[in-house]
Amino acid sequence: MKIVKTVQEVRDIVNEWRKEGLTVGLVPTMGYLHEGHQSLIAKSVAQNDRTVVSIFLNPIQFGPTEDLESYPRDPERDAKLCEDTGADLIFRPDVSDMYYDDFCTFVDMDIITKNLCGKSRPTHFRGVCTVVLKLFNIVKPDRAYFGQKDAQQLAVIKRMVRDFNIDIEIVGCPIVREADGLAKSSRNTYLNPDERKAALVLSRSLKKGMDVIKTGETNSKKIIAAITEVINTEPLAKIDYVSVVDAVTMQDVEAIKNDVLVAIAVKIGKTRLIDNFSFSV
Ligand code: PAF
Repeated sequence: MKIVKTVQEVRDIVNEWRKEGLTVGLVPTMGYLHEGHQSLIAKSVAQNDRTVVSIFLNPIQFGPTEDLESYPRDPERDAKLCEDTGADLIFRPDVSDMYYDDFCTFVDMDIITKNLCGKSRPTHFRGVCTVVLKLFNIVKPDRAYFGQKDAQQLAVIKRMVRDFNIDIEIVGCPIVREADGLAKSSRNTYLNPDERKAALVLSRSLKKGMDVIKTGETNSKKIIAAITEVINTEPLAKIDYVSVVDAVTMQDVEAIKNDVLVAIAVKIGKTRLIDNFSFSV
């Protein structure tokens, strides 16, 4: 496995692979990799001849008061995980190589980015779309892999690919959880032992939501109320949102029909965590 920093190095390597007729998968990450990322890499390795993992802590998707500075980093452990999982190339650019001083072109998506996480993180998806489009143009993969935990991000990337006619297959991969149900996230490392216990309220509340749906309840307000009630039993938890949305448009729905996403964002102490499940009628 090779580790490169520059756009030109990636292009040279991928061009050689292309000449040999090999297919290429891309797993975009911000580093501090865990089993969730590992599942994306493993899927790419299974579906493509070559796999590129990008590791880039993308400053423009963080708001001014968010955790860019404190975001966990462990480049050596990341490299080992990539290599052990079968990746062929890590692309780890510097910020200055991705964003020149006079960088001024951004991807601004409407509607899908405005609800859920977009409400409290208004510039987040602009940063995500912009960097992902850049990575797509640099690597030119056949397929790119994203986790379902960031369900809105996955929907946004799928829409960008459709709207811009980008010839890349977007592969969504299931949420990977700890044994006790907490969805894997690089940000889980911020939680102290009490908060770690409290964070279980996210998966517990979603289980309640799923149980309510399985009893035949379709009214979003009632499903949201059931989830909210569980979260509010946890003193360390503060709700950002509990929503039932259309799985494609990310717009609130009054009742469950077709494909919906039940999504929550909850602050545990200072750490904002997200979780979700999809449901199809
Ligand atoms: O999901 C992430 O880690 C990031 O949002 C991504 C897709 C790598 C873009 O920086």
